[in-house]
Amino acid sequence: MAGLALSNVQKAFGQTQIIHGVDLDIADGEFVVFVGPSGCGKSTLLRMIAGLESVTDGKIAIGSRDVTDVDPSERGVAMVFQSYALYPHMSVRDNIGFGLRMNGVPRLEVDRKVADAAAALHLTDLLDRKPKQLSGGQRQRVAIGRAIVRQPDVFLFDEPLSNLDAELRVQMRLEIARLHAELGATMIYVTHDQVEAMTLADKIVVLRAGRVEQAGTPLSLYDDPANLFVAGFIGSPRMNFLRAAPDVDGTIRLPDHGNVPVPLTLAAAPQPAQKLLLGIRPEHFAPNQDVRLSLKVDLVEHLGGASYAYVGSGSAYPLTIEMRDARDVGRGTVLETSFDSRRAFLFDATTGERVR
Ligand SMILES: Nc1ncnc2c1ncn2[C@@H]1O[C@H](COP(=O)(O)OP(=O)(O)O)[C@@H](O)[C@H]1O
Ligand SMILES: [Mg+2]
Repeated sequence: MAGLALSNVQKAFGQTQIIHGVDLDIADGEFVVFVGPSGCGKSTLLRMIAGLESVTDGKIAIGSRDVTDVDPSERGVAMVFQSYALYPHMSVRDNIGFGLRMNGVPRLEVDRKVADAAAALHLTDLLDRKPKQLSGGQRQRVAIGRAIVRQPDVFLFDEPLSNLDAELRVQMRLEIARLHAELGATMIYVTHDQVEAMTLADKIVVLRAGRVEQAGTPLSLYDDPANLFVAGFIGSPRMNFLRAAPDVDGTIRLPDHGNVPVPLTLAAAPQPAQKLLLGIRPEHFAPNQDVRLSLKVDLVEHLGGASYAYVGSGSAYPLTIEMRDARDVGRGTVLETSFDSRRAFLFDATTGERVR
C-alpha cells in the first residue's frame, strides 16, 4: 500500500491546457474522491496517475517512488472504469483471474485469489456464470474483482457506478465503502455526483476547469466552503444564493426581502459598491431564527418526511426551503420562515470568493 503526491501536475492536449498545476497529497489508505462537473478534467487526472496519459509538466509519486514516466503496469495501480468491458465468453471466475493467468501466476494461486476476491464481493455463487447472466451491479463487481486480485497499492475508479440505476448505485456505493474498510487500500474515485463524493470520501477534491477549487473532508467543505462554486456544488438540494448589499454603516441587508438585516461578524466591512451574495442552505431554514423572511411559495414537493418549498422559480435568485411537518403549505402559501445568520455564508458575487 502507498500514498501519493502530485506536484504541479499539468496536462495540455496540443495547445489546450486541460489541467493547470494540481498539487495534492493523498495519505496511505485514504479514500479520495475527485468531483466536479463533466469536462473539468477528472478522468484526465486519474489517467495520468494510472500512466494511461502522459504528464505535460509536474511530478507524480506513489509511495516514495517518482512514477511520472513509469509504465502503467509498473505503478502498482489498478483501474476500474464506468464501462466494465468483461470478456463475454468467459465465466466470472475466468474474467477475474484472466490478468493473473496472463502474467504467469500459478493456477492454484490464481484460484485462491479469485476465491478471496469473490468472497469479498459476494460473487462466490456466481463464479461459473457468464457476464450476460449477471445484473449491471454484479458485472461491475466482477470488474472490481479483476482489480482486487492484482493487489494494487492504489485503486483508481472512474465513475464506476454511472451505468447503474439509482437503487443499485446506492447498494454499490455501500459495497465500495465496505471494501475500502476491509482492504484498507488507497483509493481514488472519480464522480460528478456530489452525494457519492460526500458519502464515500475521507477527502474530497473539488475540480473545476482543471484546477482544484478546494480539498478537504466532506463536512469541512459543507461547513466551510471557500467559494461560490464549492458552496453550490456540495450539498443537496443546492445552497440558496440571495442578493446582498452593505448599507452605509456596513450592515449586510437583503434588498429582495424588504432590506432585512443579516447580523454577520466580518473581519472588514465590504465596499459600498461590492456585489455580494448570501448563501443559506435549504435545510437551514427553521422557525424563530434571527433573519425572518416572508416568502410566497410557487410549488411544494411533499416527500413524506421532508417537504421542499420553491420560491421565485425562474427568477435569478430562486430559493428552496426544506421543511418538516409542513402538510398545510402549498402553492400560493405565504411562508413566514427564518434562518440563523450564523449558518449563512457571504460571497463576492464578482470573484466568487468567500467574504469572511
Ligand atoms: N485525448 C484528448 N484530446 C483532446 N482533448 C481531450 C482529450 N481527453 C480529454 N480531453 C478534453 O479534456 C477536458 C477534460 O476531459 P475529462 O478529463 O474527460 O473530463 P471529466 O472526466 O471531468 O468529464 C475536456 O474538455 C475534454 O474534451
Ligand atoms: Mg470523465
